Amino acid sequence: MEYSIALLRGDGIGPEIVDSAVLVLEKIAAKYGHKFTFTPYLIGGCAIDETGVPLPEETVKGCLESDSVLLGAVGGPKWDGLPGSSRPEKALLGIREALGLYTNLRPARLYPALKSASPLKDDIIGRGFDIMIVRELTGGIYFGERGFREGRYGREAFDTEAYSLTEIERIGRAAFETAMKRRKRLYSVDKANVLETSRLWRSTMHGLAEEYPEVTLTDMFVDNAAMQLIRDPSQFDVIVTSNMFGDILSDEASQVTGSIGMLPSASLGSTKRGMYEPIHGSAPDIAGTGKADPIAAILSAAMMLRYSFSLETEAQAIEAAVDRVLEAGFRTADLMGADDGVPLTCTEMTNKIIEVIL
Ligand code: IPM
Ligand code: MG
Repeated sequence: MEYSIALLRGDGIGPEIVDSAVLVLEKIAAKYGHKFTFTPYLIGGCAIDETGVPLPEETVKGCLESDSVLLGAVGGPKWDGLPGSSRPEKALLGIREALGLYTNLRPARLYPALKSASPLKDDIIGRGFDIMIVRELTGGIYFGERGFREGRYGREAFDTEAYSLTEIERIGRAAFETAMKRRKRLYSVDKANVLETSRLWRSTMHGLAEEYPEVTLTDMFVDNAAMQLIRDPSQFDVIVTSNMFGDILSDEASQVTGSIGMLPSASLGSTKRGMYEPIHGSAPDIAGTGKADPIAAILSAAMMLRYSFSLETEAQAIEAAVDRVLEAGFRTADLMGADDGVPLTCTEMTNKIIEVIL
């Protein structure tokens, strides 16, 4: 089969890790007889430098014409001084919205080979964990009305959280469907003791639960969820939550695995076209040094094969190769302690993974 992939390399380590993922996809193409065509487009700081805007129209058009999108990371200190509406991060929100990608899947699982990298105690980590965070991605406070106004104490800034029934239902359905394919336990995380949007969220989730009698639905307040993720991550299966809560909890969950450099994500909408990107940022401090960990981008490519192209065998071939390389003891700098010897560079790690794709 032939598939077109838009590459949004972005800033910082984005280009190096996307290039790693492309090499892995090329190996898969050769091995399984597929054809992937890659077309690069600008996004983020590099787009600001070249075109004056973080998300050029050509980029949105290119993505809409592709079968799928692979993104590196955006942003860096060079553009930090810009106003909110023209920052590189705005492009990320813009492309998510333009492509209608309201479901963000963020898996966080413990790699047995990396147990020692987790900050949790052995007795907790010994239970292992495998969590799928389903984050709402195109609504809530990220997209609500914002601005400045005169308030009780003078000039104030405001951001608003709004969720429609439709938005909650569609992310809820995506979460229940995800739970059905896993251990059938769904945790809906909200702040229903305070927020009106959370109360609508909660009642909507319970309404949907009637359509999925096999799934056990548990409500959890977000502050408690943040605590439970550290106390005992093994209790979770699928977590569904709002844009903002999902942003925060997914960083927490990733750190519990031992390295944010390893976690991929998939952003999906109502078509097969998705956008796949690492959870980590652009890490401008290590860009170009070879220290970047390509695994999150490579696993994001595997998610693309699974969710956009329905190539499950090929997706598993990549995931198994990553497992094998880690089991064999190969590590990039982010996964090593100061005395652990010489880490692999981004390129070396990529080559190791490609070598063991069976
Ligand atoms: C993420 C990031 C983005 C977000 C930023 C860079 C806008 O933190 O993808 O988690 O908050 O969604
Ligand atoms: Mg984040």
